[in-house]
Amino acid sequence: MLANIPATQTVIEITRPGGPEVLVPGSRPVPEPKAGEILIRIAAAGINRADCLQRMGRYPMPPGASDIPGLECSGTVVRLGEGATGFELGDSVCALLVADGYGEYAAVPAVQCLKVPQGVSLVDAGGLMETYCTVWTNVFDRIHLKAGEVFLQQGGSSGIGITAIQLAKAFGAKVLATAGSEEKCQACRDYGADVAINYKTEDFVTVGKAFTNGRGVDAIFDMVGGDYIPRELDLLAREGRLCFVALMGGTKVTADFGMIQRKHLTVTGSTLRSRSVAEKASIVAALKEKVWPLWAHGKLRTCTYKTFPLAEASKAHALMESSQHIGKIILVN
Ligand SMILES: NC(=O)c1ccc[n+]([C@@H]2O[C@H](COP(=O)([O-])OP(=O)(O)OC[C@H]3O[C@@H](n4cnc5c(N)ncnc54)[C@H](OP(=O)(O)O)[C@@H]3O)[C@@H](O)[C@H]2O)c1
Repeated sequence: MLANIPATQTVIEITRPGGPEVLVPGSRPVPEPKAGEILIRIAAAGINRADCLQRMGRYPMPPGASDIPGLECSGTVVRLGEGATGFELGDSVCALLVADGYGEYAAVPAVQCLKVPQGVSLVDAGGLMETYCTVWTNVFDRIHLKAGEVFLQQGGSSGIGITAIQLAKAFGAKVLATAGSEEKCQACRDYGADVAINYKTEDFVTVGKAFTNGRGVDAIFDMVGGDYIPRELDLLAREGRLCFVALMGGTKVTADFGMIQRKHLTVTGSTLRSRSVAEKASIVAALKEKVWPLWAHGKLRTCTYKTFPLAEASKAHALMESSQHIGKIILVN
Protein backbone atom coordinates (compact mmCIF):
# COMPACT_ATOMS: atom_id res chain seq x y z
CA MET A 1 0.00 0.00 0.00
CA LEU A 2 2.78 2.43 0.92
CA ALA A 3 4.48 1.91 -2.46
CA ASN A 4 1.36 3.10 -4.24
CA ILE A 5 2.56 6.66 -4.83
CA PRO A 6 1.18 8.40 -7.92
CA ALA A 7 3.30 10.50 -10.29
CA THR A 8 1.15 13.60 -9.85
CA GLN A 9 -0.86 15.16 -7.04
CA THR A 10 -3.53 17.80 -6.52
CA VAL A 11 -2.20 21.00 -5.00
CA ILE A 12 -3.63 24.47 -4.39
CA GLU A 13 -1.99 27.06 -6.64
CA ILE A 14 -1.95 30.83 -6.19
CA THR A 15 -3.00 31.73 -9.73
CA ARG A 16 -2.22 35.46 -9.28
CA PRO A 17 -1.87 37.86 -6.31
CA GLY A 18 -5.34 38.57 -4.93
CA GLY A 19 -8.21 37.52 -2.67
CA PRO A 20 -9.10 33.99 -1.53
CA GLU A 21 -10.62 33.24 -4.97
CA VAL A 22 -7.15 33.07 -6.57
CA LEU A 23 -6.53 29.77 -4.72
CA VAL A 24 -7.37 27.08 -7.29
CA PRO A 25 -6.67 23.32 -7.45
CA GLY A 26 -3.93 22.35 -9.91
CA SER A 27 -1.72 19.36 -10.65
CA ARG A 28 2.00 19.02 -9.85
CA PRO A 29 4.48 16.14 -9.75
CA VAL A 30 4.82 14.24 -6.49
CA PRO A 31 8.33 15.18 -5.26
CA GLU A 32 11.16 12.67 -4.72
CA PRO A 33 12.61 13.01 -1.21
CA LYS A 34 16.21 14.23 -1.38
CA ALA A 35 18.94 13.04 0.97
CA GLY A 36 17.80 13.44 4.56
CA GLU A 37 14.18 14.05 3.58
CA ILE A 38 11.02 12.01 4.05
CA LEU A 39 8.01 12.00 1.73
CA ILE A 40 4.74 12.54 3.60
CA ARG A 41 1.29 11.64 2.28
CA ILE A 42 -0.50 14.66 3.70
CA ALA A 43 -3.57 14.10 5.87
CA ALA A 44 -4.02 17.70 7.04
CA ALA A 45 -2.34 21.10 6.78
CA GLY A 46 -2.74 24.13 9.03
CA ILE A 47 -3.63 27.54 7.59
CA ASN A 48 -1.48 30.42 8.78
CA ARG A 49 -1.81 34.20 8.35
CA ALA A 50 1.44 34.18 6.40
CA ASP A 51 -0.34 32.06 3.75
CA CYS A 52 -2.80 34.94 3.23
CA LEU A 53 0.09 37.40 2.82
CA GLN A 54 1.76 34.99 0.37
CA ARG A 55 -1.50 34.75 -1.60
CA MET A 56 -1.66 38.56 -1.80
CA GLY A 57 1.93 38.68 -3.09
CA ARG A 58 3.12 40.33 0.13
CA TYR A 59 5.35 37.55 1.54
CA PRO A 60 8.52 36.98 -0.47
CA MET A 61 9.41 33.28 -0.48
CA PRO A 62 12.91 32.14 0.51
CA PRO A 63 15.12 31.49 -2.57
CA GLY A 64 14.41 28.13 -4.18
CA ALA A 65 11.17 27.50 -2.26
CA SER A 66 8.11 26.05 -3.99
CA ASP A 67 5.26 28.47 -4.76
CA ILE A 68 2.63 26.13 -3.24
CA PRO A 69 1.57 27.56 0.16
CA GLY A 70 1.50 25.60 3.39
CA LEU A 71 3.87 25.90 6.36
CA GLU A 72 2.87 22.78 8.29
CA CYS A 73 1.24 19.42 7.76
CA SER A 74 0.58 16.00 9.21
CA GLY A 75 0.42 12.67 7.46
CA THR A 76 2.03 9.30 6.85
CA VAL A 77 5.63 8.62 5.90
CA VAL A 78 5.53 6.90 2.49
CA ARG A 79 9.15 7.15 1.29
CA LEU A 80 12.53 7.74 2.93
CA GLY A 81 15.25 9.76 1.21
CA GLU A 82 18.83 8.55 1.40
CA GLY A 83 20.14 8.76 4.94
CA ALA A 84 16.85 10.00 6.45
CA THR A 85 16.68 8.72 10.01
CA GLY A 86 14.28 8.75 12.93
CA PHE A 87 11.19 7.58 11.04
CA GLU A 88 9.87 4.44 9.37
CA LEU A 89 7.44 3.94 6.52
CA GLY A 90 3.90 4.17 7.88
CA ASP A 91 4.76 6.48 10.82
CA SER A 92 2.25 9.24 11.58
CA VAL A 93 4.17 12.51 11.64
CA CYS A 94 3.74 16.26 11.72
CA ALA A 95 6.12 18.54 9.86
CA LEU A 96 7.36 22.12 9.73
CA LEU A 97 7.46 23.10 6.04
CA VAL A 98 8.77 26.01 4.01
CA ALA A 99 5.94 25.43 1.49
CA ASP A 100 3.81 22.66 -0.09
CA GLY A 101 1.37 21.94 2.75
CA TYR A 102 -1.58 22.70 0.45
CA GLY A 103 -1.17 19.44 -1.46
CA GLU A 104 -1.30 15.68 -1.16
CA TYR A 105 2.42 14.99 -0.76
CA ALA A 106 5.36 16.95 0.65
CA ALA A 107 9.07 16.13 0.90
CA VAL A 108 10.64 17.62 4.02
CA PRO A 109 13.89 17.23 5.97
CA ALA A 110 13.34 14.52 8.57
CA VAL A 111 14.82 16.85 11.20
CA GLN A 112 11.79 19.16 10.73
CA CYS A 113 9.34 16.37 11.67
CA LEU A 114 8.06 14.86 14.88
CA LYS A 115 5.82 11.87 15.56
CA VAL A 116 2.19 12.85 16.11
CA PRO A 117 1.88 13.28 19.89
CA GLN A 118 0.02 10.75 21.99
CA GLY A 119 -3.73 11.40 22.02
CA VAL A 120 -3.69 13.85 19.10
CA SER A 121 -5.62 13.04 15.91
CA LEU A 122 -3.85 13.13 12.55
CA VAL A 123 -6.12 16.03 11.50
CA ASP A 124 -5.41 18.15 14.59
CA ALA A 125 -1.69 17.39 14.21
CA GLY A 126 -1.71 19.22 10.87
CA GLY A 127 -1.91 22.51 12.76
CA LEU A 128 0.79 21.97 15.37
CA MET A 129 4.26 22.56 14.01
CA GLU A 130 4.23 26.16 12.77
CA THR A 131 2.62 27.43 15.96
CA TYR A 132 4.63 25.31 18.41
CA CYS A 133 7.96 26.06 16.70
CA THR A 134 7.12 29.78 16.56
CA VAL A 135 6.12 29.97 20.21
CA TRP A 136 9.07 27.92 21.43
CA THR A 137 11.73 29.85 19.55
CA ASN A 138 10.34 33.23 20.55
CA VAL A 139 8.83 32.89 24.02
CA PHE A 140 11.39 30.46 25.42
CA ASP A 141 14.55 30.88 23.27
CA ARG A 142 14.43 34.64 22.63
CA ILE A 143 12.67 36.17 25.63
CA HIS A 144 13.41 33.37 28.10
CA LEU A 145 10.05 33.16 29.86
CA LYS A 146 10.56 31.61 33.28
CA ALA A 147 8.36 29.98 35.92
CA GLY A 148 6.75 32.53 38.22
CA GLU A 149 6.96 35.39 35.71
CA VAL A 150 3.97 37.32 34.40
CA PHE A 151 3.44 36.93 30.64
CA LEU A 152 1.10 38.89 28.33
CA GLN A 153 -0.04 37.29 25.07
CA GLN A 154 -1.53 39.65 22.50
CA GLY A 155 -4.02 38.04 20.07
CA GLY A 156 -4.65 35.30 22.62
CA SER A 157 -7.32 33.46 20.61
CA SER A 158 -5.14 33.02 17.50
CA GLY A 159 -3.44 29.72 16.76
CA ILE A 160 -0.20 31.25 18.00
CA GLY A 161 -1.90 32.82 21.02
CA ILE A 162 -3.59 29.65 22.28
CA THR A 163 -0.34 27.72 21.93
CA ALA A 164 1.59 30.40 23.82
CA ILE A 165 -0.99 30.56 26.62
CA GLN A 166 -0.80 26.79 27.11
CA LEU A 167 3.01 26.59 27.01
CA ALA A 168 3.47 29.59 29.29
CA LYS A 169 1.12 28.00 31.83
CA ALA A 170 2.72 24.57 31.45
CA PHE A 171 6.12 26.11 32.26
CA GLY A 172 4.81 27.92 35.33
CA ALA A 173 4.13 31.51 34.22
CA LYS A 174 1.09 33.60 35.11
CA VAL A 175 -0.69 34.48 31.88
CA LEU A 176 -2.65 37.50 30.71
CA ALA A 177 -4.11 37.44 27.19
CA THR A 178 -5.90 39.97 25.00
CA ALA A 179 -8.66 39.24 22.48
CA GLY A 180 -11.33 41.15 20.61
CA SER A 181 -14.59 39.65 21.93
CA GLU A 182 -16.05 38.06 25.05
CA GLU A 183 -16.20 34.68 23.28
CA LYS A 184 -12.49 34.91 22.39
CA CYS A 185 -11.66 35.99 25.95
CA GLN A 186 -13.52 32.95 27.29
CA ALA A 187 -11.46 30.75 24.95
CA CYS A 188 -8.25 32.29 26.34
CA ARG A 189 -9.42 31.45 29.87
CA ASP A 190 -10.44 27.93 28.80
CA TYR A 191 -6.92 27.31 27.51
CA GLY A 192 -5.41 28.51 30.79
CA ALA A 193 -5.09 32.30 30.81
CA ASP A 194 -5.37 33.66 34.36
CA VAL A 195 -6.84 36.90 33.02
CA ALA A 196 -8.35 37.63 29.60
CA ILE A 197 -8.61 41.25 28.49
CA ASN A 198 -11.15 42.34 25.89
CA TYR A 199 -9.04 45.04 24.23
CA LYS A 200 -12.16 46.67 22.79
CA THR A 201 -13.52 47.48 26.24
CA GLU A 202 -10.46 47.34 28.53
CA ASP A 203 -6.95 48.80 28.52
CA PHE A 204 -4.31 46.05 28.73
CA VAL A 205 -1.84 48.44 30.42
CA THR A 206 -4.30 49.23 33.24
CA VAL A 207 -5.23 45.56 33.72
CA GLY A 208 -1.58 44.41 33.56
CA LYS A 209 -0.43 46.99 36.09
CA ALA A 210 -3.31 46.16 38.44
CA PHE A 211 -2.52 42.42 38.18
CA THR A 212 1.11 43.06 39.13
CA ASN A 213 0.44 45.72 41.81
CA GLY A 214 2.03 48.33 39.59
CA ARG A 215 5.25 46.37 38.91
CA GLY A 216 4.46 45.55 35.27
CA VAL A 217 4.70 42.28 33.33
CA ASP A 218 7.93 40.40 32.64
CA ALA A 219 7.37 39.37 29.03
CA ILE A 220 5.02 40.23 26.15
CA PHE A 221 4.55 38.20 22.95
CA ASP A 222 2.97 40.37 20.28
CA MET A 223 1.65 40.12 16.72
CA VAL A 224 -0.06 43.52 16.59
CA GLY A 225 2.61 46.22 17.05
CA GLY A 226 1.57 49.68 15.84
CA ASP A 227 0.15 51.81 18.62
CA TYR A 228 0.48 48.87 21.05
CA ILE A 229 4.24 49.43 21.15
CA PRO A 230 4.49 52.54 23.40
CA ARG A 231 1.87 51.02 25.70
CA GLU A 232 3.81 47.74 25.87
CA LEU A 233 7.03 49.56 26.76
CA ASP A 234 5.06 51.29 29.53
CA LEU A 235 3.60 48.01 30.85
CA LEU A 236 6.88 46.08 30.99
CA ALA A 237 8.57 45.68 34.38
CA ARG A 238 12.29 46.31 34.87
CA GLU A 239 14.26 43.72 32.80
CA GLY A 240 11.07 43.07 30.81
CA ARG A 241 11.14 41.54 27.31
CA LEU A 242 8.98 42.29 24.27
CA CYS A 243 8.94 40.02 21.22
CA PHE A 244 7.19 40.43 17.85
CA VAL A 245 6.23 37.78 15.32
CA ALA A 246 4.04 40.14 13.32
CA LEU A 247 3.08 43.81 13.24
CA MET A 248 -0.45 43.60 11.87
CA GLY A 249 -1.34 46.97 13.37
CA GLY A 250 1.61 48.77 11.74
CA THR A 251 5.42 48.83 11.70
CA LYS A 252 6.02 52.54 12.23
CA VAL A 253 5.37 54.22 15.54
CA THR A 254 6.56 57.00 17.84
CA ALA A 255 7.74 55.57 21.15
CA ASP A 256 9.85 56.65 24.12
CA PHE A 257 13.02 54.58 23.77
CA GLY A 258 14.22 56.10 27.02
CA MET A 259 12.01 53.50 28.72
CA ILE A 260 14.09 50.73 27.14
CA GLN A 261 17.22 52.20 28.68
CA ARG A 262 15.76 53.17 32.04
CA LYS A 263 13.98 49.83 32.62
CA HIS A 264 16.67 47.59 31.02
CA LEU A 265 14.13 46.25 28.50
CA THR A 266 14.82 43.88 25.61
CA VAL A 267 12.86 44.31 22.36
CA THR A 268 13.23 41.58 19.76
CA GLY A 269 11.40 39.58 17.07
CA SER A 270 11.94 36.93 14.45
CA THR A 271 10.63 35.03 11.46
CA LEU A 272 10.64 31.26 11.16
CA ARG A 273 10.27 30.38 7.46
CA SER A 274 13.54 32.01 6.37
CA ARG A 275 15.69 30.08 8.86
CA SER A 276 18.10 27.31 7.85
CA VAL A 277 17.28 23.61 8.15
CA ALA A 278 19.84 23.41 10.97
CA GLU A 279 18.11 26.20 12.94
CA LYS A 280 14.70 24.59 12.43
CA ALA A 281 16.14 21.21 13.45
CA SER A 282 17.31 22.65 16.74
CA ILE A 283 13.87 24.13 17.47
CA VAL A 284 12.18 20.82 16.59
CA ALA A 285 14.65 18.90 18.79
CA ALA A 286 13.85 21.21 21.72
CA LEU A 287 10.12 20.64 21.19
CA LYS A 288 10.65 16.88 21.13
CA GLU A 289 12.55 16.95 24.40
CA LYS A 290 10.74 19.64 26.38
CA VAL A 291 7.21 19.96 24.95
CA TRP A 292 6.08 16.71 23.31
CA PRO A 293 6.11 14.79 26.65
CA LEU A 294 3.53 17.29 27.98
CA TRP A 295 0.88 15.89 25.61
CA ALA A 296 0.99 12.53 27.39
CA HIS A 297 0.54 14.33 30.73
CA GLY A 298 -2.62 16.06 29.49
CA LYS A 299 -1.10 19.54 29.78
CA LEU A 300 -1.79 20.57 26.16
CA ARG A 301 -4.91 20.59 23.99
CA THR A 302 -5.27 21.10 20.27
CA CYS A 303 -7.42 24.00 19.08
CA THR A 304 -8.91 23.10 15.69
CA TYR A 305 -11.75 25.56 14.96
CA LYS A 306 -12.86 24.30 11.54
CA THR A 307 -11.66 21.97 8.80
CA PHE A 308 -12.10 22.35 5.04
CA PRO A 309 -11.37 19.91 2.21
CA LEU A 310 -8.15 20.85 0.37
CA ALA A 311 -10.12 21.99 -2.68
CA GLU A 312 -11.90 24.59 -0.49
CA ALA A 313 -8.71 26.40 0.57
CA SER A 314 -10.26 29.66 -0.62
CA LYS A 315 -13.07 29.29 1.95
CA ALA A 316 -10.49 28.60 4.65
CA HIS A 317 -8.62 31.81 3.77
CA ALA A 318 -11.84 33.83 3.77
CA LEU A 319 -12.60 32.54 7.27
CA MET A 320 -9.11 33.43 8.52
CA GLU A 321 -9.42 36.95 7.10
CA SER A 322 -12.82 37.37 8.76
CA SER A 323 -11.00 36.86 12.12
CA GLN A 324 -14.08 35.02 13.43
CA HIS A 325 -12.08 31.90 14.17
CA ILE A 326 -10.65 30.85 17.52
CA GLY A 327 -7.56 28.65 17.14
CA LYS A 328 -6.58 26.76 14.00
CA ILE A 329 -8.19 26.36 10.58
CA ILE A 330 -7.12 23.12 8.88
CA LEU A 331 -7.23 21.70 5.34
CA VAL A 332 -7.88 17.97 5.11
CA ASN A 333 -7.32 15.42 2.35
N1 LIG B 1 7.32 35.57 12.60
C1 LIG B 1 7.00 34.29 12.55
O1 LIG B 1 7.86 33.42 12.50
C2 LIG B 1 5.55 33.89 12.58
C3 LIG B 1 5.19 32.54 12.59
C4 LIG B 1 3.84 32.21 12.68
C5 LIG B 1 2.88 33.21 12.75
N2 LIG B 1 3.26 34.51 12.71
C6 LIG B 1 2.26 35.60 12.79
O2 LIG B 1 1.58 35.50 14.01
C7 LIG B 1 0.26 36.00 13.85
C8 LIG B 1 -0.74 34.98 14.34
O3 LIG B 1 -0.75 33.92 13.44
P1 LIG B 1 -1.96 32.93 13.36
O4 LIG B 1 -1.74 32.06 12.18
O5 LIG B 1 -2.15 32.32 14.71
O6 LIG B 1 -3.14 33.94 12.96
P2 LIG B 1 -4.62 34.12 13.44
O7 LIG B 1 -5.13 32.89 14.10
O8 LIG B 1 -5.41 34.64 12.33
O9 LIG B 1 -4.45 35.28 14.53
C9 LIG B 1 -4.51 36.63 14.31
C10 LIG B 1 -5.37 37.21 15.42
O10 LIG B 1 -4.82 38.45 15.78
C11 LIG B 1 -5.84 39.31 16.22
N3 LIG B 1 -5.60 40.66 15.71
C12 LIG B 1 -5.26 41.71 16.46
N4 LIG B 1 -5.04 42.80 15.72
C13 LIG B 1 -5.22 42.44 14.44
C14 LIG B 1 -5.12 43.13 13.21
N5 LIG B 1 -4.76 44.42 13.14
N6 LIG B 1 -5.37 42.42 12.06
C15 LIG B 1 -5.72 41.12 12.11
N7 LIG B 1 -5.82 40.42 13.28
C16 LIG B 1 -5.58 41.08 14.43
C17 LIG B 1 -7.17 38.73 15.72
O11 LIG B 1 -7.95 38.42 16.86
P3 LIG B 1 -8.86 39.55 17.58
O12 LIG B 1 -10.24 39.40 17.04
O13 LIG B 1 -8.76 39.23 19.00
O14 LIG B 1 -8.27 40.89 17.24
C18 LIG B 1 -6.78 37.45 14.98
O15 LIG B 1 -7.60 36.37 15.33
C19 LIG B 1 0.08 36.31 12.37
O16 LIG B 1 0.25 37.68 12.16
C20 LIG B 1 1.20 35.52 11.72
O17 LIG B 1 1.61 36.07 10.49
C21 LIG B 1 4.57 34.87 12.62
